[in-house]
Amino acid sequence: MEGDKWMNLLITGGAGYIGSHTVVRLLESGYDVVIVDNYMNSKPEVIKRIERITEKRIKVYEVDLRDSVALEQVFCENHFDGVIHFAGLKAVGESVDFPLDYYDNNVVGTLVLLKVMEKCQVQNIVFSSSATVYGDKNQSPLVETMPLSTTNPYGTTKWMIEEMIKDVTYANPNWSAVNLRYFNPIGAHPSGMIGEDPNGIPNNLMPYITQVAIGKRDYLSVFGNDYDTIDGTGVRDYIHVMDLAEGHLKAFDYTLKHKGCHVFNLGTGKGHSVLEVIRFFEKATKTQIPYQIEKRRPGDIATCYASVNKAEKDLKWKAKFDMFKMCEDAWRWQSKNPNGFE
Ligand code: NAD
Ligand code: WQD
Repeated sequence: MEGDKWMNLLITGGAGYIGSHTVVRLLESGYDVVIVDNYMNSKPEVIKRIERITEKRIKVYEVDLRDSVALEQVFCENHFDGVIHFAGLKAVGESVDFPLDYYDNNVVGTLVLLKVMEKCQVQNIVFSSSATVYGDKNQSPLVETMPLSTTNPYGTTKWMIEEMIKDVTYANPNWSAVNLRYFNPIGAHPSGMIGEDPNGIPNNLMPYITQVAIGKRDYLSVFGNDYDTIDGTGVRDYIHVMDLAEGHLKAFDYTLKHKGCHVFNLGTGKGHSVLEVIRFFEKATKTQIPYQIEKRRPGDIATCYASVNKAEKDLKWKAKFDMFKMCEDAWRWQSKNPNGFE
């Protein structure tokens, strides 16, 4: 918070996985929030759970960001000190099959949001970008100044949005923006009341592991064991979603003190292989994860982890939770909610 000043933030996509955890941290820290979400990848039950955790009521608008009239109405009915923008589609493979849906939802949605913000003189934004914008040509640790490239339409939407936001801050010096490049968010709120609830078969490693542990899937397919890594399996920088949530509070605070456009990695700076994650999970949860080695997944790279120096120095933010805690919390969420939010 800026001194004792009361702050009200618009959270787009606040019913989603990362948004819901960030909303909890914001409410606990004394911010007021208003959520805009069209529930295309989340459920209204999330809001009830956030309200139970925080014992606060939340104002929610079921609005699609691309509906400029409805979005402007939200801005007219509320005073906002800034926006944290999570709303978007996020499945890499789906973006290859349906690129126009991704450009429409992610790029057009953000365009409408930025226009409405400009019109209503709300000029602080924190945006959910992704480590995917580093592409497949840079060596880890990945540094914010490295050249960007993408390997799929989802990644391209993130890159395009970063550029759009940067241009807005160049054109109007009143704007403050932070683009956060998340690495691999996993884990859940320690209460086990909110967490990641993918539709259908999970694409990502941790939700797949938790579904094997709960008995919904027979075994985990490990995509390749012939990479040039510690044990041949892919290495990633997994970050606890509560650490990520905290990073958004720091990033919003940063927009209050710094004009212009700034970029930060949010990761731990450490890489773990798929086999290491399985071992941590088994130890933390006393479960067994049967797995089979299969061929590489197209588009995957061997290793991806963050340089965290810039976030530590400028945002004064550092991830606190280790892989053991990430596994424990992911498992508490899954075991208490075998069918997610249903
Ligand atoms: P999520 O799908 O759980 O949450 C996104 C939320 O946005 C959902 O509640 C969805 O209903 C909502 N939404 C989508 N399009 C909308 C629209 N047009 N109008 C209103 N609401 C809309 O995803 P998440 O994992 O919480 O990710 C949040 C953001 O972070 C996304 O932009 C994603 O691309 C980015 N990101 C996620 C990861 C990850 O691994 N989870 C990694 C890097 C970046
Ligand atoms: C992690 C590792 C897989 C599933 C994706 C997006 C990225 C970002 C985060 C949004 C890899 C291996 C996985 C499985 C496996 N999202 N794996 N079996 O691919 O690093 O990143 O999510 O911005 O843009 O690309 O995450 O969790 O899918 O994979 O062996 O069933 O686990 O090969 O090495 P990824 P992931």
